[in-house]
Order: sequence, then structure tokens, then C-alpha cells
Amino acid sequence: MDIIESAGELRARLHDARMAGARIGLVPTMGYLHEGHVSLFRQAVLQCDLVVASLFVNPLQFGPSEDFAVYPRRPEADARIAANASVDVLFMPSTEEMYPQPPVVSLTLQGIHDHLCGRSRPGHFEGVATVVAKLFNLVQPHVAYFGQKDAQQLAVVRRLVRDLNYAIEVIGCPIVRDVDGLALSSRNVYLSDLERPQAAVLRRSLLLAEQLVSQGETDVQELLRQVREVIGSAALATIDYVEVVDPDTLTPLTRLAGSGLLALAVFFGRTRLIDNTLLCVPTP
Ligand code: PAF
Repeated sequence: MDIIESAGELRARLHDARMAGARIGLVPTMGYLHEGHVSLFRQAVLQCDLVVASLFVNPLQFGPSEDFAVYPRRPEADARIAANASVDVLFMPSTEEMYPQPPVVSLTLQGIHDHLCGRSRPGHFEGVATVVAKLFNLVQPHVAYFGQKDAQQLAVVRRLVRDLNYAIEVIGCPIVRDVDGLALSSRNVYLSDLERPQAAVLRRSLLLAEQLVSQGETDVQELLRQVREVIGSAALATIDYVEVVDPDTLTPLTRLAGSGLLALAVFFGRTRLIDNTLLCVPTP
């Protein structure tokens, strides 16, 4: 695996492969890699001739009171994990390499970030869209892989590709979970020994909603009430949001018809965890 830190070197490394007709896959990450990331690498390796993983903690997507400074970092271990997963190129730029000057041009979004995480993290998805666009321009991949855990991010990236005419196929990969159902996240490391077992309540609340929908419940208020009740049973949980939204536009739904994305963000102490599931009304 090649480890590359400069944008120029990355372009040079990819040029020949592109000329030779290689199908290039990109997996953007912020590092502190876990099995969720590895599942994206594996999918990319299966479908592409050359897989680039990027590892960059993007300051643009963190608010002033968020965890940019303390976001967990372990680049050496990440490089080993990526190499073991058969990633071909690991792009690890410094902040100065990605943003040599404070950006004057960046992306703004309309509507799609008014709900869910966008509401509690102003500027976050614009920071994500901007860095993902930069990575798309640098790597020019044929395919890009993102986790479905960050459902709103995936929806934003899909619109980025459509609205700015990137010729890139975006693939959303299934959430990878710990044995008790907690979705894997680099931020799980922040959880205390008391908080960690309680965090499993998130998955239980989603499973209950799935079960209710399979039994015919379509009233979103009732689903949300029951989901909140389950989460509320964990003493250390504080709900940021629980919403059912249209899976593409992310606008809130009042009644389920077809499918709806049930998404939640819950604090355990200072750690904010997100999770989601697609609720599908059973066809008669
Ligand atoms: O999901 C992440 O880790 C980040 O938001 C991403 C897509 C790498 C952009 O910084």
C-alpha cells in the first residue's frame, strides 16, 4: 500500500492507473478505523481495480464547540488496518495540504440540512460536502463508498453528485454493529464504562419501531413516542432528536407510506451517537 501525503503525488499515482482503464474506488474517512470502515474497504476492493482510502480529520465540518481538537487519531494503526484490507493507496494529507489558504470558495446546501443532524450541527454538512467535493476532484473515482450510519451525509453526497454532475457512483454500505447492536463509530471510544452498555438501547429502539411497522403501525407520532420511551429507559441517555423523514429529501413525515428513514441522535454524557433504520410498510 502506498501512503501519500501530497495532492500532487496522489494525482501522479492515479494518472497511470486511470490511463490504463482501472476502475478507481474511493473510501473517504476521518481515520480511527474500525470494522465499519473495513467493510467499506472490502466492498471497494471487490468492485474496483484500485482502491484509495483517504484519512483526514476535516476541520470545516466541526463546530466551534465540537471535538475537532480531541477527535481520536492513530494514523499508524490505521495504515496497518487499511493495508490488511488490501487498500492500494492511503491518502493522508495535512490540514495545510488540503487547505493551503483559508477557503474562499465552499459549498452551501439548501433544505437537506434543515433536519436531523443538520439542525443541531450548523455548517457541518456544508463542511462535509466541501471536503468530499475536493476529494472527488483529487481522486476522480468511478465509485465512492459511504456508510449508511451517516444517512444524512449519504443523502447530501448523493445530491452533491447529482447537482454538480460528478460522474461517480455512490454506494451506501450497511451499518456494522457491535455484538449488543451498538453501531460502530470512532466516537464510541468516548463512552464511559457506565455509558457503553446503556448505548445498546438505541438499536433496541430501532428494532421496536421496525416491529411496530411490520405489525401495521404507520402513525409517525406513535412510532416516535414508543422509540423515545425505550431510549428514555436508559438513565444516561439524552435525546437530541428522533425523527422519521423521507429517505431522499429528509423532510419529516407524519404518516408512513412506502418507506421512511427513522433516524436518531442521542447524547450519553458528552458523546453524541447517531443511528437509523429504514422503515418499510409491508405490502399487502
Ligand atoms: O464520514 C466521515 O468520516 C466524514 O464525514 C467524511 C465523509 C470522511 C468527510 O470528512
